[in-house]
Amino acid sequence: MFSTPTGLPRVGRFEPVLNHIAEEVSSLTDRGRPADYIPLLAKADPQRFGMAVAEVDGTVYGVGDWRHPFSAQSITKVFTLALALSLGGERLWQGVGREPSGNPFNSLVQLEHENGIPRNPFINAGALVVTDRLQSLTSDAAGQVLELLRAESGNPGIDFMPEVAACEASYGGRNAALAHFMASYGNLLTPVPGLLAAYFWQCSIVASCKDLALAAGFLARHGTRANGSTLLSKSQAKQINAMMLTCGTYDAAGDFAYRVGLPGKSGVGGGIIAVVPGVCTLCVWGPGLDRHGNSVAGVLALDRFTTLTGLSVF
Ligand code: DON
Repeated sequence: MFSTPTGLPRVGRFEPVLNHIAEEVSSLTDRGRPADYIPLLAKADPQRFGMAVAEVDGTVYGVGDWRHPFSAQSITKVFTLALALSLGGERLWQGVGREPSGNPFNSLVQLEHENGIPRNPFINAGALVVTDRLQSLTSDAAGQVLELLRAESGNPGIDFMPEVAACEASYGGRNAALAHFMASYGNLLTPVPGLLAAYFWQCSIVASCKDLALAAGFLARHGTRANGSTLLSKSQAKQINAMMLTCGTYDAAGDFAYRVGLPGKSGVGGGIIAVVPGVCTLCVWGPGLDRHGNSVAGVLALDRFTTLTGLSVF
């Protein structure tokens, strides 16, 4: 129905496909349910939907609520990982693995069997290790992630949401358990209370589809930042994309790869970022989640995007 966008005239080339997808999403009857572990997320309206595509040169297209800020949550884990790898290099992998977990993102069960080394950087335990390493390198992991998002999106208005950070802390027993358990194995470099605070602040960042699609651009540009400087080597960018493909949507990563065919990372705020290396980055938002914690409308929209345009890594 749509020819491959790379063959189309530049101006407005993604607009028809985005409009078409928004139309399809509008007739979706079961959009899942917003995350309800904290009241601020539970209030989100599952009917909202936005989608943005940012080309590698920074040209950005969007549809629906694509400029509406939402809780980025675990999408920020990609940016923490990028900074930890960029500043600390390969030694990160002594403390966190690179395998899909096949378990829910907040699961505790594998950690004891695997001696306090989490399966990958995108489950909560693994993200805590990555934030810990960034915290030990910079003393302000959450601030560094915020700065990266602001710089890459060009939007200095992206910010933390203190109410969300406070809620995360008050409902954060499971993350606290994960952190203390890993500390007991000697797998944390910084004190648990400060690490948890940094992790909760990081989760509380609020940004729009437009912001996040632009901010993830370095993953499509093989590690090059929006200003042309290098954040990651080509091979580190490849590694993060590979990990997003295999682990970025938790215990649904196989199904996501099957349907969408792109590296992706979801958050319980209902956002998902995805990368077409060398071409563009995408961000979709729809607050209703499936049982794995991934946006129902978001996965459908990305599935339709890669199907209609032929743009995928396969
Ligand atoms: O750690 C938590 O429980 C949340 N603040 C982040 C969870 C999240 O987004 C995982 N994603 N799907």
